[in-house]
Amino acid sequence: MKIVFATGNEGKMREIRMIMSDLDIEIKSMKELGIDIPIDENGTTFEENAQIKAEAIAQELARRGERVIVLADDSGLEVDYLGKEPGVYSARYMGEDTPYSIKNASLIKRLEGVPDEKRTARFVCVIAAVMPDGTSYHTRATVEGIIGYEEKGANGFGYDPIFYLPEYGKYSAEFAPDEKNRISHRGKALEKMKEYLKNSKTFADK
Ligand code: IMP
Repeated sequence: MKIVFATGNEGKMREIRMIMSDLDIEIKSMKELGIDIPIDENGTTFEENAQIKAEAIAQELARRGERVIVLADDSGLEVDYLGKEPGVYSARYMGEDTPYSIKNASLIKRLEGVPDEKRTARFVCVIAAVMPDGTSYHTRATVEGIIGYEEKGANGFGYDPIFYLPEYGKYSAEFAPDEKNRISHRGKALEKMKEYLKNSKTFADK
């Protein structure tokens, strides 16, 4: 049996391999298995979108007769003052191909004059697992912060340069990559999923 992660993103694969390394199970990306099917992420919650992705891949692998655990993630940024926008639309906010410098500037502008205590925001990550018997399980984790007044830091991606973590006294884009993995929404959701898999019956029977 193996784990298949529903992403083509190399950065995410590195992270999941690092976190799950002590599970002693082969971990493949959908790309490595030659799966390239269109997936319509039309859910309105992180849970729905992660489940849609995991199920689509699980169905394809079941057709091929493979016994696998399929994992998929969905994540995004919720800004409280903006009614939790951009949320599940984080990648599509202002258009998928719009540079993040423009998306980030837009969020800062929409929060003009808003005091620190109302600038609260969080990165959310949900991981969905579809097990070989067809059952599903989800883990969710967040990292809390506030939207800054300017972009800061050269690491990370997406909304990292405007996301300030008061607990650590720095912006998300100022963390070294392995340091960010340890505290990030995705890192924490993956850790929770690892604990679930470790204790699951499917895993014991592998
Ligand atoms: P995905 O669905 O997990 O690929 O992520 C959706 C979008 O959420 C990304 O394209 C980013 O806009 C945003 N996002 C998710 N996680 C992060 C993060 O750790 N830093 C910055 N932006 C993020």
